[in-house]
Amino acid sequence: MKEKIAKLIEEAKSAIKSSDSLASINNVKVKYLGKSGELTQLLRGMKDLPQEERPLVGKYVNEARDVITQLTEDKLKELSQAETDSKMIKESVDITLDGKTTQRGSLHPCTLVTEEIVDIFKSLGFTLGDGPEIELDKFCFQMLNIPLDHPARDMQDTFYITDDILLRTQTSSVQARTMINTKPPIRIVCPGKVYRPDDDATHSPMFQQIEGLVVDENVTLCDLKGLLETFAKRLFDDKTKVRFRPSFFPFTEPSVEVDVTCSVCHGKGCRICKGTGWIEILGAGVVNPKVFDNCGIDSKKYKGLAFGLGVERVAMIKYGIPDMRILFENDVRFLKEFK
Ligand code: DAH
Repeated sequence: MKEKIAKLIEEAKSAIKSSDSLASINNVKVKYLGKSGELTQLLRGMKDLPQEERPLVGKYVNEARDVITQLTEDKLKELSQAETDSKMIKESVDITLDGKTTQRGSLHPCTLVTEEIVDIFKSLGFTLGDGPEIELDKFCFQMLNIPLDHPARDMQDTFYITDDILLRTQTSSVQARTMINTKPPIRIVCPGKVYRPDDDATHSPMFQQIEGLVVDENVTLCDLKGLLETFAKRLFDDKTKVRFRPSFFPFTEPSVEVDVTCSVCHGKGCRICKGTGWIEILGAGVVNPKVFDNCGIDSKKYKGLAFGLGVERVAMIKYGIPDMRILFENDVRFLKEFK
């Protein structure tokens, strides 16, 4: 019996040694140590041995099992380490290779200008206002003191959807919407798209405006001047000069148009400012009390300041863009300049 067991150990040793994969070593494990494996068979056969031989044979079998178990475990470890190593080598990444570059977009110059302007007004205590692009005639015109059939309607050609629904021609509609819903004091800026049936070198059927509105007890045209001057100097630079010219808008009285010195030629005169050294950037004024009356605000107690600014125009001045159409072509070579 002793020889038989020794032979079994030798057989197992060589089977273990020649195993070259996890599958084959597992087969060896089953063959010798499994439930119906050779050692188990030997143990089962012990009942047929004479009583006195049993302890000794039991000892041999146990020793053999320990040896084979240890050897198979060692081999298992060795093979699984080898498998991991070769997998690592196969899957290894050469981190010195060039990466794949992904194309990153950039913000449109109009978006950049809008963000900058909104930030300036936020720092002056304004919050954001909002309103729809598909608007009611009453908010876009009537409440702003432009009744139906009023000649002032000719100032803004309009896309009508029905008799009283239109594409807003000005973000001033947000003024009316805000005033009917908010108790003064009010201090808002509202960026947004507006639409007019114009299309040439300096006009586009869609363009963007930023509206501003202040409603409070003791505000005057002087505050408007100070506010817009501070704004222009922050947006362009400290040397920028601001000029107010009398104008007319139905919703403000008095009304002004505001020019800044051309930031391209600094007032000397160039193509962008058509040789004048000045560029108009916004319309503004003291809110007409009739607008307050239409919107349910006490026009005896409150005064208002309002302004509306063209985003494309400011982007052109700020970045020296000579033709507004470039802003709508979305040529990536142009847009990349703003990364
Ligand atoms: N809504 C005017 C336009 O589109 C611009 C404007 C002028 C807005 C004067 C105002 C303002 O708020 O007070 O031409």
